[in-house]
Amino acid sequence: MSATLIKDVKETFIKEFNTEPLLIFSPGRINIIGEHTDYNDGFVFPAAVNKGIAAAVQKSDSGSCTAIALDLDSTIKFELDKLKPSKEGSWENYVFGVVAEIQNRNKIIGDFNIIFKGNIPGGAGMSSSAALENSVVFGLNELFDLGLTKHEMILISQKAEHNYVGVNCGIMDQYASMFGIKDNALHLDCRTVESKPYKIDFKDHQLMLINTNVKHSLSDSAYNDRRSACESISELLGIKALRDATEADLETVIDKVTPSNYQKALYIIQENARTIKAAKAIENNDLELLGSLIYQSHAGLSDQYKVSCDELDFLVTQAKKNKHILGARMMGGGFGGCTINLIANTEAKSFAETASKAYKNKFGNECSVYFIELSEGTHIVK
Ligand code: GLA
Repeated sequence: MSATLIKDVKETFIKEFNTEPLLIFSPGRINIIGEHTDYNDGFVFPAAVNKGIAAAVQKSDSGSCTAIALDLDSTIKFELDKLKPSKEGSWENYVFGVVAEIQNRNKIIGDFNIIFKGNIPGGAGMSSSAALENSVVFGLNELFDLGLTKHEMILISQKAEHNYVGVNCGIMDQYASMFGIKDNALHLDCRTVESKPYKIDFKDHQLMLINTNVKHSLSDSAYNDRRSACESISELLGIKALRDATEADLETVIDKVTPSNYQKALYIIQENARTIKAAKAIENNDLELLGSLIYQSHAGLSDQYKVSCDELDFLVTQAKKNKHILGARMMGGGFGGCTINLIANTEAKSFAETASKAYKNKFGNECSVYFIELSEGTHIVK
């Protein structure tokens, strides 16, 4: 699948710019559990997948840079010394942001041309943005011999998202996309930014995604609001991040925070604990426990953290009615995107059909089902 993407960007690049490009594949990610815990210095459990962004990139001697998003049929020309964010929501901000953050680190890059094509829809909660950012920083690092480590590259990608895209994201997406390991999920400590790989082989079960194909518009501002709420409660508790708090600690400030912020902080503390338990459950091959943690995660995201939506809740409710699904929850930032389902292999196809029908009946729109493979992180394609 990614082979076709690579072929498309390569051929278009040669046609447009008459030279052989460097080719990069940068994956999107899933997350088994640990949602909104990353910017609280907590644990997450993502994995890179076999869907993402293909990029073709090469130096340019035309005196300016060109970036082309093939999926959007959109071309943008720019000069390296005149970068500023484009209007909100523009795809080129991911490119500009990465270039600006590289320059902020006093690394020198020259003009370049780049062409992208991807197979994760934006808004799916599968980090197409991080995949795009990582493809740019990875490609430029290689082309201009910048000597950046992978850890430096993901910080550049993350800063691009903060300063050019306007989402104060954590580090999970960029990390998973960059450091992914085939057939493994990464139990990532977002404080040390180090992870332990877990080989994922659920034998008779698998992880299946269902995309609601909606993205509610409040998602970016709501995301930043959640982050600020968490930070203000940490400050009140005199700790660096909510990762350091227990439920008992939180009790001590119950009178100083709104009931809704109290629930949000409580969710983070509980979700972090669930993510640690989930790693143990996988070690012990206890899929029942893993599944129940996943359901609890959704309940917390929906009722306490308030980042779900009707479409996601509906799909999780459908899953709960099926005894072959051990766990299901919304995945990613929320307000749309995918659910992740821990489902018996034998049941996956038929549930995909029934859930899709029910979804169409209820909302009048189609949802999309993705069967995924856990894959390696951002890499050069020879
Ligand atoms: C988005 C952000 C991540 C993370 C998730 C929620 O994907 O980019 O940093 O916070 O939401 O877990």
